[in-house]
Amino acid sequence: QEDVFKKLVAHCKEYGFVFQSSEIYDGLGAVYDYGQYGVELKNNIKKYWWDSMVLLHENVVGIDSAIFMHPTVWKASGHVDAFNDPLIDNKDSKKRYRADVLIEELLAKYDAKIDKEVEKAAKRFGDSFDEKMFRETNPRVLEHAQKREEIHQRFVKALNENDLNELRQIIIDNEVVCPISGTKNWTEVRQFNLMFSTEMGSTADGAMKIYLRPETAQGIFVNFLNVQKTGRMKIPFGIAQIGKAFRNEIVARQFIFRMREFEQMEMQFFVAPGEELAWFEKWKEVRMKWHKSLGMGDHKYRYHDHDKLAHYANAATDIEFEMPFGFKEVEGIHSRTDFDLSQHQQYSGKKITYFDSERNESYVPYVIETSIGVDRMFLSIMAGSYCEEEVPGKDGSVESRVVLKLPPVLAPVKLAVLPLVKKDGLPELARKIVDDLKFHFNCQYDEKDSIGKRYRRQDAIGTPFCVTIDHDSLEDQKVTIRYRDTMEQERVSISALKDIIGEKVSM
Ligand code: GAP
Repeated sequence: QEDVFKKLVAHCKEYGFVFQSSEIYDGLGAVYDYGQYGVELKNNIKKYWWDSMVLLHENVVGIDSAIFMHPTVWKASGHVDAFNDPLIDNKDSKKRYRADVLIEELLAKYDAKIDKEVEKAAKRFGDSFDEKMFRETNPRVLEHAQKREEIHQRFVKALNENDLNELRQIIIDNEVVCPISGTKNWTEVRQFNLMFSTEMGSTADGAMKIYLRPETAQGIFVNFLNVQKTGRMKIPFGIAQIGKAFRNEIVARQFIFRMREFEQMEMQFFVAPGEELAWFEKWKEVRMKWHKSLGMGDHKYRYHDHDKLAHYANAATDIEFEMPFGFKEVEGIHSRTDFDLSQHQQYSGKKITYFDSERNESYVPYVIETSIGVDRMFLSIMAGSYCEEEVPGKDGSVESRVVLKLPPVLAPVKLAVLPLVKKDGLPELARKIVDDLKFHFNCQYDEKDSIGKRYRRQDAIGTPFCVTIDHDSLEDQKVTIRYRDTMEQERVSISALKDIIGEKVSM
């Protein structure tokens, strides 16, 4: 699996999806640029989200708020005081780790030990193996499971009580070793704030310290009244936004999974007090359906309820996707109560309430948030689409191909138009087809190399349709369409292309 991940990262670079930021200067940690195909895929992901959230829901509208906000916003939201990671250093290697991540990795080790026992037994017993029974009775499995549970209980308690000494103690008691130095020599655990700060303007008293937003959500909260009043919105309603967010992540690993500059697609749904948990369930369902609608395989998604609730939430779950490095969070769904609006009311001194004519009362609305990372979504789609296949080659031989089986609606290029030869009027006809269709979807013209090589190049960037123009096309105005996943070919009229492709690549 790790191998697959390495190949995927290499593929992203080789085919112009993702580059390291400032690569010619050896890069900047956990910051990435999107290339010519990456930006198309990313834009398609954003459009797929925006259309399904804003266009398809009558009671959801969008905004685009600024990255810079008044610094008091972050005091009110709790980010200045509570948006921290617990850090621990290894005294020998001087390497810095997140204490919670070290403990999560420790828990994962126990899971792996249990899985190994199960795997061994499954091999030994063959068809007669009863996995459930084995997990419930095997002494070694029970021992590992009990130890895991003890650590898990201590971990959850320490997180909830913000007990940094106890986090360290769990690491010490379990003899967690630094992967670099191999030693168990740990410092105290300290809190580290994740917000980037900078300075704005300069006054006689000095410049104002401001932050790069660590989430887009606050831009929605501070505009709640603006949108509600100008849009004459009635509760329940939502405000959606797509935009950049910044976090000074310490454990920045796994490519674009954890970045320091990334993009979020967030929606805050405002509801009456007491109705938030029903809406929480509803949005959980809607969002899971959205993910599954892309056809990557339902078994690749699962919910994960939080062990520790964020400072603003009364219920929270993640939608996880099976990445090459395990199931990981792609989207968070939080019931944020009236925390944010109440805090902004208190810190700004402005009344932030809604008059509910049905209830005949005013209240501070409660909020359900759906928050998904564009980059993580991108990674999940790439990981779920990347395939290496053996396919029939020339004269009965077997060839291998790398193909991105991207959902057609997200594919960067929808159609490649390929003249069989570079003469006899075939390029002209191919260009004409591109010129006619390029207003409807992203088309690419390619005449270089053999047709087989051109197909492979399109497979590698996930183009769902290729059409080949041959000499007969000049006569019968028909082309051969080749389908990426099945590699089946079919003869169709040029005039039918727009409908055939349009139907498959729309939402
Ligand atoms: N407004 C709520 C919020 O920001 P979060 O769980 O911290 O909640 C939401 O983040 C989503 O943003 C995550 O599910 C993830 O997809 C994405 N995200 C968070 N931190 C990220 C990072 N460092 N790099 C890439 N994506 C990130």
